[in-house]
Amino acid sequence: MNLITIDGPSASGKGTVSNLVAKALGWDVLDSGALYRISAYAVQTKDINPEDAQTIAEVVGKLDIKFQEGEVWVDGVEVSDILRQESTGKMASKIAAYPELRAALLDRQRNFIHGVPGLVGDGRDMGTVIFPNAPLKIFLVADVNERANRRYKQLVDKGVVANYDEILADLQRRDDQDMNRAVAPLKPADDAVVIDSSHMGIQDVVDSILKEWAK
Ligand code: CDP
Repeated sequence: MNLITIDGPSASGKGTVSNLVAKALGWDVLDSGALYRISAYAVQTKDINPEDAQTIAEVVGKLDIKFQEGEVWVDGVEVSDILRQESTGKMASKIAAYPELRAALLDRQRNFIHGVPGLVGDGRDMGTVIFPNAPLKIFLVADVNERANRRYKQLVDKGVVANYDEILADLQRRDDQDMNRAVAPLKPADDAVVIDSSHMGIQDVVDSILKEWAK
């Protein structure tokens, strides 16, 4: 099975690494975080009570979601920019703790493996829950200060006014929420290869994953 899972905390570089690994192998990417962000977008735009896990799961189960050429479409609307907003990410992290929502997204995620030459699954629970039989599982970590630094630089490069301390506090809060929730908590699968990218460049991380795959 041509499948690599890449899990890890916020701002560990997972997204960039997943895309580069997939490109090198000619495979597709499942950006599972986008599905939780899409769910958050649905809560925010359809006036759903954010505490109502059952309704969120039902509504998300019916959404028409398409990923094409770097764009994300939900029920015929292009939502990529909205998904990237901070408020969407915060809501995503909150509702990702609902077992009803995680169950509603399970098959949708597993279906990504069908009809593609190979798949890189990017997320928090790709190796532990969604693809437990994946032949290669990566858990990408980096020191939280380093991750805050990277996110800070990203924002400044985009011309956004950013506050380092706020970014750090937000990452710590997000880590705490993701690692301590009852369902699918963020943790490495028993058979995952852990890569600490604190002192590695993106290309070094990509190369080490490709080397693991070639083994
Ligand atoms: O980029 P960032 O780390 O903020 O998040 P993301 O990968 O876009 O995912 C948004 C939120 O969805 C995360 O904070 C997680 O709580 C949740 N998530 C999850 O629970 N399981 C996944 N497989 C992917 C994301």
